[in-house]
Amino acid sequence: MNEIKKDFPIFTNRKIAYLDSGATTQKPVQVINAVKDFYEKINSNIHRGAYSLSMEATQIYEETRAKIAKFINARHSEEIIYSKNATESLNLIAYSYGLNNLKKDDEIAISIMEHHSNLVPWQKVASATGSKLNYMYINEEFEISDEEIESTITDKTKIVAITHVSNVLGTINNVKKIIKYAHKKGAIVVVDASQSIPHMKIDVQDLDCDFLAFSGHKMLAPLGIGILYGKREILNKMEPFLMGGDMIEYVYEQETTYAPLPNKFEAGTQNIEGVIGLGAAIDYIENIGYDKIQEIEKEVVCYAIQQLSKLDFLTLYVTPNKENHSAVISFNIKGVHPHDVASILDSEGVCVRSGNHCAQPLLRSMGIDSTCRASFYIYNTKEDVDRLVDALKKAYNMFEKYIVK
Ligand code: ALA
Repeated sequence: MNEIKKDFPIFTNRKIAYLDSGATTQKPVQVINAVKDFYEKINSNIHRGAYSLSMEATQIYEETRAKIAKFINARHSEEIIYSKNATESLNLIAYSYGLNNLKKDDEIAISIMEHHSNLVPWQKVASATGSKLNYMYINEEFEISDEEIESTITDKTKIVAITHVSNVLGTINNVKKIIKYAHKKGAIVVVDASQSIPHMKIDVQDLDCDFLAFSGHKMLAPLGIGILYGKREILNKMEPFLMGGDMIEYVYEQETTYAPLPNKFEAGTQNIEGVIGLGAAIDYIENIGYDKIQEIEKEVVCYAIQQLSKLDFLTLYVTPNKENHSAVISFNIKGVHPHDVASILDSEGVCVRSGNHCAQPLLRSMGIDSTCRASFYIYNTKEDVDRLVDALKKAYNMFEKYIVK
């Protein structure tokens, strides 16, 4: 077991090759202990108590907000809003910004590689406001070309919503370039960083995105904590998404004034343990450093592509441009349903996701309805790849006689 893997108790308890980090990552002991410590030593609700335990919980909660702001280089702490996950962050933008700022004949531009969470909310905004939802499609290299970007984002486009990294293809979109172009056309840009932030440094000021969403659980943190970053001047003008406790200033019988940022967007008791776990996850990532993370991943992912390419019964859905590819590899055994393949891999202790990966329009545009997907993170090794390859050979041998060629 390598040094990093040793930090993850699940790998002592289960002898698996875990290749589904795109769905959720495993958790290091440092994150698990931070959550345990919170419940054993600080547990209380935030922003409510005048007693020291509650003030201590509030302090960690707010210090973590500042840590996250620094982590993504946001200008102000109050630009960081806690949510349940990237899906909730994206819905918040669609409901609070999209529904109130778009009108008939305006346009929304998204890519065909969006996860449903950055697609369905925009369908809702389009149908409710009479605006039009346009798509940037991929080329044969599984990338979005400059021509595609420039022909889809027009003077009518008011919102561009784009994933940084595709959860199916692993393609890294040049979001900085897209943001620059969209701003020139007068549109604001929403970036879904769920599949990028575990793997690469995100600098929201350098990107100049207007909104950025991500989930904690895909970057070593507990389930149920997500982040919405938004530029302060935009967030200030937006209506709250959820109403209730903690997001108000004064409540009268018939009307209410709202709290300033960030509380305006954090109604009800929050996932404090998740926030603390996310803080510990960020410490863990920063301790290793993104340079090292990329070095580890590059070695394992390149090895995986090399080994999988040797299996002539496989179709791989990966861009040939290595520098535009992250840590996700989708594939199919020709003629065999991905769920069947995934079950055989499972019987060999290899965990991959199979299905449409919450990206039905993308797969439909590729002429398929599902794939198997191996997604990698810092604890994966070449041995995990070898287990995947051996299990795939076994699956192929089992199904070969049934394949219609
Ligand atoms: N969005 C997650 C994935 O792609 C669940 O697997």
